[in-house]
Amino acid sequence: MRGFPIRKFCLMLLTALLFSCGGGQEDQTSKKVHLTVMMWKPRIPEAWQELFRRFQEVHPDIRLVVEIGPQSSTALHDMLSQRLKNRSTDVDVFFMDVVWPPEFASAGWAHPLDEYFPQEERAKFLPGPIMANTFQGRIYGVPLFMDSGMLFYRSDLLSKYRFKPPATWQELVSQAVTIVEGERGQGGGLYGYSAQFKQYEGLVCNMLEFILSNNGRLLSDPDEPCALMQEAALEALVFVRDQIIRRLSPEGILTYEEPESMEIFLQGRVIFHRNWPYVWEVANDPKQSRIVGKVSIAPLPHFPNGKSHSALGGWQLAISAFSKNKDAAWRFVEFLTSEPSQRYLALKAGRAPTLISLYDDPEVLSKMPHLSMMKRAFIDARPRPLSPLYPAVSNILQYFFHRVISGSAKDIRAEARNACMELRKILALQRKSG
Ligand code: GLC
Repeated sequence: MRGFPIRKFCLMLLTALLFSCGGGQEDQTSKKVHLTVMMWKPRIPEAWQELFRRFQEVHPDIRLVVEIGPQSSTALHDMLSQRLKNRSTDVDVFFMDVVWPPEFASAGWAHPLDEYFPQEERAKFLPGPIMANTFQGRIYGVPLFMDSGMLFYRSDLLSKYRFKPPATWQELVSQAVTIVEGERGQGGGLYGYSAQFKQYEGLVCNMLEFILSNNGRLLSDPDEPCALMQEAALEALVFVRDQIIRRLSPEGILTYEEPESMEIFLQGRVIFHRNWPYVWEVANDPKQSRIVGKVSIAPLPHFPNGKSHSALGGWQLAISAFSKNKDAAWRFVEFLTSEPSQRYLALKAGRAPTLISLYDDPEVLSKMPHLSMMKRAFIDARPRPLSPLYPAVSNILQYFFHRVISGSAKDIRAEARNACMELRKILALQRKSG
């Protein structure tokens, strides 16, 4: 692949890195439309830079500036919402997490895209993300790629011990304990499980998967008993604390987001790892991974009476309501979410497409053989609660979950009751304003 010219990486600002991707005709710059796109720090930057370069090639009248924000969804949300609250015109297009559209739409930050993105175009995308981008009948984002929680595991170790990928969480624990025990003395501490247990958005995804896979729920209707206080939810949380965190995970696990939890897996020091689909690409890249060819994927396990559940994640492109360049912004959105771009992101960055056609694409399927399995996981993936007040809901959940799994909560039921009361207050506000 032709790399993105290094000389064009122009400016580094504290946490934000700015990639200016101008076509090189500096004397023409003043006539060009400047388009600023805000995204997170990508794991495989070359793939994204190549697409930005291609966009510049076909749109020489636009000068694209890509601003790189923090990797974490929560941190990017805070940075972006601050700017949008100030009606800043310096961001035209932004990456939007699948849980943000109701908030960004009702705050008036995301521009409705109905005139650009008609129904017949929407029908080419998987229905889940289209639904997630729709708020009160209008559409606010175009799905760029899908995420769905999955279990990566060390196929070499499982076959050495003659284990099949675990169907239940209990099986996962007992397999991990046996393998860690058996491998003791092979040098380098081996751990059973790594995932995202820091207090941030990723924690909500992980805990949703545990709770749903025990037939529990996160939220309940006002006239129902609180979902977090039900046995199914509490049992799942206590299991995570006692069996996953205390028994199987590295010490720092309570501070891990996606990159840290993946890094230790890539080093060959973890047997089971929960993450999003792109880990497949990274784990099989010899420049980044010591476990190339030793990794397989399975659906996440479940509790004995439950079913496997993956959280629905993924990212969309949205246009800022305050952008002065909405047409140019749309050209960028259209380009990056097009079939060729999504195919490229699947092949080079391991990103699961949102266009239905790519799930039957021979090139994509040969590079990502697990994609047909993922398609099922994507269709069944469960959304987090969709609400304009989602950040407040998520904060309450994050705080509660972290208190329980870290062992700080002494009286779990009392803390669950508090969390429920807080959630009810927020949801009542929502009903009033809705
Ligand atoms: C991934 C998902 C996103 C989720 C985040 C949590 O980026 O795509 O939906 O909120 O992880 O860390």
